[in-house]
Amino acid sequence: MKALAVAALAAMIVATPAAAQVVDGKKLFTSRCGVCHWDPAKPGEQARMGPSLSGVVGRKAGTHPKFTRYSKGMKDFGKPWSEALLASYLENPRKTVPGTNMAFVGLKKPEERAAVVAYLKKPR
Ligand code: HEC
Repeated sequence: MKALAVAALAAMIVATPAAAQVVDGKKLFTSRCGVCHWDPAKPGEQARMGPSLSGVVGRKAGTHPKFTRYSKGMKDFGKPWSEALLASYLENPRKTVPGTNMAFVGLKKPEERAAVVAYLKKPR
């Protein structure tokens, strides 16, 4: 019985750090993207420094109708935003879309990229 309790306790200790590491896509969006991009969860989307990201997954890059300041690089890129392509752009914007003028250093952690892409993809 005592061994079982010890085993249960050990399992809890092992499980805790993993749970604490879950990345919150909304928080990350607010802190890393929200300065320049409208939060897709909020109504009344507007262009900011960058285009609104509502419905960006599946949309062709550089084609939000209300955004008029796309770089030539983004307009010429011409591919639809798949989840994998978004993750790659967020890791290294200039490498993925040459000539982009999105001044963002990149999300270096894969779990952060996944969380932000999941947040963008979430149906509203
Ligand atoms: C300093 C301002 C800034 C920050 C911070 C920023 N962006 Fe951008 N973003 C832009 C600009 C400007 C563009 C337009 C780029 C172009 O035309 O080359 C853009 C374009 C994009 C596009 C392409 C949209 C389209 O319509 O094709 C995506 C996707 C994107 N950003 C996602 C993000 C995400 C997610 C974050 C946070 C992890 C982020 N951006 C952080 C300014 C920013």
